Amino acid sequence: MKALIIGGNGFIGSNLADCLLKAGHKVTSFDRYPSRYREADPRINYVYGDFANHGEVQEVVKGNDWIFHLAYTTLPASSNEDPAFDVRSNIIDTLQLLEACRESQVKKVVFISSGGTVYGVPQSLPIHENHPTEPICSYGITKLTIEKYLHLYHHLHNLDYVVVRLANPYGELQNPQAKQGAIAVFLGNVMQGKPITIWGDGEVVRDYIYIGDAAEALLKAAEYCPDENEPRVFNVGSGCGQSLNEIVRAIRAVVGKDLEVVHHPARSADVPANVLDIERAKKCLDWQPEINLESGIRKTWDWLCKVSKN
Ligand SMILES: NC(=O)c1ccc[n+]([C@@H]2O[C@H](COP(=O)([O-])OP(=O)(O)OC[C@H]3O[C@@H](n4cnc5c(N)ncnc54)[C@H](O)[C@@H]3O)[C@@H](O)[C@H]2O)c1
Repeated sequence: MKALIIGGNGFIGSNLADCLLKAGHKVTSFDRYPSRYREADPRINYVYGDFANHGEVQEVVKGNDWIFHLAYTTLPASSNEDPAFDVRSNIIDTLQLLEACRESQVKKVVFISSGGTVYGVPQSLPIHENHPTEPICSYGITKLTIEKYLHLYHHLHNLDYVVVRLANPYGELQNPQAKQGAIAVFLGNVMQGKPITIWGDGEVVRDYIYIGDAAEALLKAAEYCPDENEPRVFNVGSGCGQSLNEIVRAIRAVVGKDLEVVHHPARSADVPANVLDIERAKKCLDWQPEINLESGIRKTWDWLCKVSKN
């Protein structure tokens, strides 16, 4: 298949590109910037442009079978600062993408939604896809809104789609200086001899999934051909919960040194716990996570050690 990854030079996009190439697909990456951490891959067709530019998006969509929509302008923690920007830059621009997909008759749109924010404060764990959706950040609301528009475009125009409600991915090519991605950020601090910063008491629980497993789930989502009664929305995570304090302990075991931890006040957009029920993805997508937390942290640490030498 010809696959287009919008946001293809970022953390998830680059790992997804590797996974698609390995499976024999042709890959185009549409992004504003080149990858931060690696040289251009001659097998990938790189197109530089802005997701906000309708003409550029229309042009790059043409001729592709699968569209992976990964570009996003906001993060959960900061999205509440300017919800109007979140709506304008994500919902409106995604609607332009869906129009382009409809015109070009693409075979499948795979959208990365957010398993960590669309449900809000969970009523029960692990969280099933049918759990009520009450996001407590604008990012969760815009992700959910785009899910609804995908459903609408399917209903009106027969545009095929799958939504992946992704948990907390970590692994190679994740920016350790970013504002999200606890494992990479913590490892980056350890690498630089800085203390680890935790918002709150460290008992906030999240579902961490190794990026190779997440990329594989995205590929399976594109391959999945549901009939009308089958689900199109999937949780993708490890299905297990770890507190930040447990993550720190796991990192300590991998890097083999004592770590300094500094606590800051908890953030209002953080739900206390989030662990996804992944049974639906296992059954319908014939997928399951393969890499456990310790192996995943080791792979991430080994990668960071390698890039820090270059
Ligand atoms: N990383 C996570 O923890 C996580 C969890 C759940 C969902 N997601 C979602 O996954 C997607 C990818 O996240 P990521 O972690 O790879 O982020 P990332 O920042 O590493 O990558 C995003 C890429 O999109 C590109 N991009 C952003 N705006 C663009 C625009 N207007 N035009 C062209 N390119 C643009 C960026 O240059 C970047 O290369 C996002 O939709 C994010 O909301 C991420």
